[in-house]
Amino acid sequence: MFSMDPRTPRASGANNGYAGGVSRPKTVCASRARGWLLGLLCLGVLAGCGGGGAVDVQTAESVPLRLDKKDPERLVRSVLGGYTAEAGADPFEAGLVSGEGDGLTLHPQKLAPAIRQQLSDADGDGAIGPDEWTDWVEATYYSARGLPATVAALREAVPYASGDAAWFEVEVDGVMTAARRRLFLPVTAVRAALEAHARGDGLMYPAGTWIIGEHLIDGEVVETTVKHRREDGYWDFAVYDGSGALAPATSTEPRALRTPTQCTGCHLGQKLFEPEKSWPGAASDGPFGPRAYHVPDAWRSPEAAALFNEHARRDDGVLGLYGTLYASQLLTDRASGAISPEDAAFLDRLGL
Ligand code: HEC
Repeated sequence: MFSMDPRTPRASGANNGYAGGVSRPKTVCASRARGWLLGLLCLGVLAGCGGGGAVDVQTAESVPLRLDKKDPERLVRSVLGGYTAEAGADPFEAGLVSGEGDGLTLHPQKLAPAIRQQLSDADGDGAIGPDEWTDWVEATYYSARGLPATVAALREAVPYASGDAAWFEVEVDGVMTAARRRLFLPVTAVRAALEAHARGDGLMYPAGTWIIGEHLIDGEVVETTVKHRREDGYWDFAVYDGSGALAPATSTEPRALRTPTQCTGCHLGQKLFEPEKSWPGAASDGPFGPRAYHVPDAWRSPEAAALFNEHARRDDGVLGLYGTLYASQLLTDRASGAISPEDAAFLDRLGL
């Protein structure tokens, strides 16, 4: 174990000093040290002097969003989609954000007051920059999303359990953590994603799908990570700590991953990871040991891997090979004569 990234505690109480409309100095140029002459000069050339200074986000109709990301629109949709409607909705259509590409504008009055209160132009540069965005999202995300507050509450809503035939269960040593991960997906959701692929729609999971990843050390669950698919096509992320409470970040090696700001880095990206990249071949070891799906070798079906090309396609932002593995399991059943007529017909529909 190791200590958490120092940003995490800072994020939880972020910016409260400026909540509730406390105004800040109106111009970055009004520095006493520079004297009144420079101050006058600044007034004269206000436009060239920080664009007019700090924005009071609590009262402003709009504030520029400067996220310094490759695809800020997508990031904003994935995060603020969850601040727009309970099931997720397009924040652009809802008027919460406008603009395109790097030229995005946030309209703070469209936010719930309790969520808006925690947002501020803390550095007074007249925009919401990457750090202000990260602090605010990390401080407000769980309350904005209303995710189950504990693993017990999650289990009540989503009764995943080892050995339950309603859940597709698979263990992996991957990139997210040095711990072994035990993944649970509803069988109905995996089958629905495969059916969608057969229809030509890609491996798309139904809205409302929960994917649960337990992190195991010496067989004990030390934390639980979760994804929940919204109706707007993006996923919510959550981390529960060893006591079962919602946590701002993971705590297992090699590094704390903060929710949701660091989850989206990999989950919205295109980078390929092991052991998915080498599948159905074996992956080379990572810095903390072998990387592998712990499934029977018979499931290493080149046909299923090639048909779905699941990890590289990223149809639905899901990074694991669950459709491929589930179909491969059925192929193994078919080869041994142990397949039901319904599943045999399902494989036919998939083209396997
Ligand atoms: C370094 C890249 C990376 C980061 C950062 C990351 N993940 Fe993942 N995640 C993966 C990969 C790769 C998989 C699939 C294989 C695995 O489970 O290791 C995965 C799988 C998952 C799954 C199972 C569903 C799926 O998409 O395969 C969940 C749930 C999940 N991650 C949650 C999270 C949460 C919550 C965070 C942030 C706290 C996070 N992840 C951050 C790379 C990442």
